[in-house]
Amino acid sequence: MAEDLLTVENLHTQFERADDTVYAVNGVSFSVEPGETLGIVGESGSGKSVSVLSMLGLLRGGRVVSGTAKFMGTDLLKLRRRQLEDIRGRDIGVIFQDPMTSLNPTMRIGDQIMEGMLTHQYTNRKGAFARTLDLLDEVGIPEPKVRFRNYPHEFSGGMRQRVMIAMAIACEPQLLIADEPTTALDVTVQMQILSLLHGLREKRQMSIVMITHDFGVATNFCDRIIVLYAGQVMESAPLEEFLKRPAHPYTIGLKASIIEVGQQERELHPIPGSAPTLTELPHSCPYATRCLFAQERCRQELPVLRNVGASHYVACHRAEEVMDHAG
Ligand SMILES: Nc1ncnc2c1ncn2[C@@H]1O[C@H](COP(=O)(O)OP(=O)(O)O)[C@@H](O)[C@H]1O
Ligand code: SF4
Ligand SMILES: [Mg+2]
Repeated sequence: MAEDLLTVENLHTQFERADDTVYAVNGVSFSVEPGETLGIVGESGSGKSVSVLSMLGLLRGGRVVSGTAKFMGTDLLKLRRRQLEDIRGRDIGVIFQDPMTSLNPTMRIGDQIMEGMLTHQYTNRKGAFARTLDLLDEVGIPEPKVRFRNYPHEFSGGMRQRVMIAMAIACEPQLLIADEPTTALDVTVQMQILSLLHGLREKRQMSIVMITHDFGVATNFCDRIIVLYAGQVMESAPLEEFLKRPAHPYTIGLKASIIEVGQQERELHPIPGSAPTLTELPHSCPYATRCLFAQERCRQELPVLRNVGASHYVACHRAEEVMDHAG
């Protein structure tokens, strides 16, 4: 088995507020192998962004209480800000949902792409210029020499996301973290960006962590998927196993809510109910209030992640029955 590029173990992140504490991430663990695409899926507020922001040192207002996040053997959570900045942008590229918040509106996009390379001393000025033109071409921006001189507002949302991707891969990172990279885009552009990322992954052999609330995006794009709910991993499995033998009732609900691409009526089937507020540490199954399989034990005892098949883990007391039911 390939050695992991990134291994996150037992991550706990909290936000202290005036009157209470938000337990946003409660013991999240996952790993990413070289060349692998891992999907992190879950509804809004399930802790997807906080998990990755925690490990990248980009958390605002929150605190990583415990855990480790080893990237190529180094625990990112133990690094000083400067060391982490070096890794971020050079070895780990990051793209977010809204490129406008990450791009500088007063700077030409070409200069912004070059800046990253020069900061990380990846190449000299002349090299950075030539490489920026190549990158713009590679991410599908026509007329790179002209577009180099444009400002972000002169680009469409999809083109801005292409710029962000160019910036993220400029120093040839081993890992790209994409937090809802297509959520703000319309469906056609969404497909184009996913296909661009797919091509880059094949060509560069880089690993990707794809964060999405869209189960369809995850199943189309990822080799392995973890499902988050209330800041905990509910299920983790390779794609095929995941689709064939889902073992958590929440996963089954997510699967049922996939929008059928090409379907005239794009009907969504959301799961009834809502996620628990995260102002208390869970002592029982966080999904129990919405779960069709819930029993007394579920309301008494927190299910822990356990192995139910080849690289297949699930946090559910009744996983075996759920699998039988789904099969
Ligand atoms: N700055 C903050 N202060 C308090 N709570 C926060 C803050 N940022 C995020 N949270 C809470 O942490 C939880 C996880 O958020 P997040 O990781 O952003 O969810 P998502 O899965 O949608 O990316 C949510 O309940 C959210 O309200
Ligand atoms: S532990 Fe119980 S409530 Fe939680 S998902 Fe499994 S069956 Fe449902
Ligand atoms: Mg998010």
